[in-house]
Parts: sequence; structure tokens; C-alpha cells
Amino acid sequence: MSAGIAIRTMKAADAPIMGSWAAAEGWTSETSDDFLAFLDHDPDGCLILEYGGEPAAVCVATVYGQAGFLGEMIVSRAYRGLGLGPILFDRALSYLRGRGCRSVSLDAVPKAAAFYETRGFKTVSLSRRFRGRIPPSRGAGVWPMGYGDLPKVSAIDLRAFGADRSFFLKRRLDQYPELAWVRLKEGRIVGYIFGRRREGFCWPGPIWSADAGRHAAFLLRGFAMGAGDVDIQVGVLDINTRAVALMRRLGFEEKREPSRRMALGEGDPVGLQPGLLAIGTAGKG
Ligand SMILES: CC(C)(COP(=O)(O)OP(=O)(O)OC[C@H]1O[C@@H](n2cnc3c(N)ncnc32)[C@H](O)[C@@H]1OP(=O)(O)O)[C@@H](O)C(=O)NCCC(=O)NCCS
Repeated sequence: MSAGIAIRTMKAADAPIMGSWAAAEGWTSETSDDFLAFLDHDPDGCLILEYGGEPAAVCVATVYGQAGFLGEMIVSRAYRGLGLGPILFDRALSYLRGRGCRSVSLDAVPKAAAFYETRGFKTVSLSRRFRGRIPPSRGAGVWPMGYGDLPKVSAIDLRAFGADRSFFLKRRLDQYPELAWVRLKEGRIVGYIFGRRREGFCWPGPIWSADAGRHAAFLLRGFAMGAGDVDIQVGVLDINTRAVALMRRLGFEEKREPSRRMALGEGDPVGLQPGLLAIGTAGKG
């Protein structure tokens, strides 16, 4: 390793700095709280590269069994162009491989996609961001989610996502109970939605719906009840044509040039099934 470079794991005290780096990139959905969530989930996957004793880059690796996810790859502005990003990224990738991950996924901003291609990642879908509003309404079988629903929701999510992310789902219900809803039909859960509240908007995700996505609009209306008078911003994979069509039908507008969902490895990447109408986050699928 080059002189002056050290890689260590993150501490809670680092989270505000990482949050400020994300804010400087305009990543309004990623805050210090997201870094704290990663830290609670798996401190060994939260990597910081120090250059000359100062934090210069961050990257977070999330293990979902045999599938891994990489996110929050940021080199602090003053340290760009020195090759530090690739060093940290490769360390995060080795961490996932060491934990037995057979596939690794990430959401790449357009400018960074070429860099991931040099590591063998291939684009599996565009990853779009839509923003808009939807009239709030409650009913039609849509209910606030309770902790009693969580085991069933987590079991559905395990099948739909392809791996266990119940840790993050519970955390969303803990922090934003007013944004978590289920749709019931004859006592059966046919859809669910979770969310996060951010500066000036709410981010719904993940959203899952049985029956070709027909419950998603109802869930979003319930979500809007909990969100209040703010925009809704959502991440949708382009391969999920029903989800893209729904967002356009609801009048949501595409916020910026789409990211790319990229994947590497022999195993099945997580999160590509059509029942999942919205991603949870860009950082961890
Ligand atoms: C992308 C990034 C992590 C690269 O780290 P780095 O230490 O500057 O990397 P390097 O100096 O070795 O450059 C590696 C590649 O990064 C890409 N890159 C350089 N500047 C970039 C920027 N401002 N934004 C995005 N990608 C950039 C280039 O493709 C470069 O390859 P090249 O040298 O062949 O042109 C860093 O530029 C960054 O933090 N960008 C902003 C946050 C971001 O976009 N993260 C990726 C999210 S998917």
C-alpha cells in the first residue's frame, strides 16, 4: 500500500463528515443517519480511507448472504484524481468476496460507470429517480404497518428481494412508522411500502406489490397521508416496466439523468424481481 494511506472501519463520530460529503454531491437521500444505519448493520463493511491521517474517502459494503451491495463511494473533493477511490473500492470488493458474496451490485452515477466497468461490472438496468406528488388517501385495504406485520413482510421481502434485509426494514419502521403501510386482501398482505423522510421530500422504498403491481398506487396514496405536504422521490429500476409506467401515469417527473444498476459475479444479483416496484436506497439496494 502507498505511503500515507490507511484503511480503517468507520466510527459513529465519522458519520456527520460522511453525510456532509454526500450532501456536497447533491445526494439528498443519503445523510449521516444512513451511515449510522450501515454501521449498526455491519461495522466491518463501512470503510474509510485516510490519507496523511485525514479521512479522504468512504465506501460501504453490505452483505446479504451470497449477494453483496456496494454504495456510498465518495472521495472527498480535495483528494480526487489521486487514485484513492479505486484503492478503497477494491478493498470493499475484497471484503464482500471474503464474506462469500457470489454477486455484487451497485447503483452507479453516470460519470462513475466507466470506472466500475474497469472492475468488470456490467449494467443490468438503468436506475431512475422520479419526483412528484400524489393525492393522499386512505382506505381500499391500506393500513398502517405494525410490528405484528413485520415477520410476514420480511418473509415476503426475502423472496422478492432475493436476500434478507429485515434489519433495514425494521429500522425504517422504527424511525418512520407513519411512512410504513400494508395493503390487505382477505387478511393477506398483498403489498407493502416503507419510507424515509429527508429535507423537503419523502423517499418511499422498498415498495412491493403482488398481482403485477396493482397495489402500488394505493400504497403510495397511504404513504402520502403519512408524508404530509412534501414531494415524493422514488428510485425505480428501468427493467421494471410496470413501475416506470406507473410513475409516469401518476405524473411523476424524472429528476435527473438515470444512474445504472450494475452487477458483477456468477450469482444472482438481488432486487431485480418485478414485484419490487421501488428500490430501498441506492446505497444498499
Ligand atoms: C468516482 C470517484 C470515487 C473516483 O475516485 P478518485 O480517487 O478520484 O479516482 P481516480 O482519481 O483514480 O479516478 C478513477 C476514475 O474516476 C472517474 N472520475 C474522476 N472524477 C470523477 C468525478 N468527479 N465524478 C465521477 N467520476 C469521476 C474517472 O472515470 C476516473 O478514471 P480516469 O482517471 O480513467 O479518467 C470520485 O471521483 C468521487 O468521489 N466522485 C463523486 C462521488 C461519486 O460520483 N461516486 C460514485 C458513485 S456511484
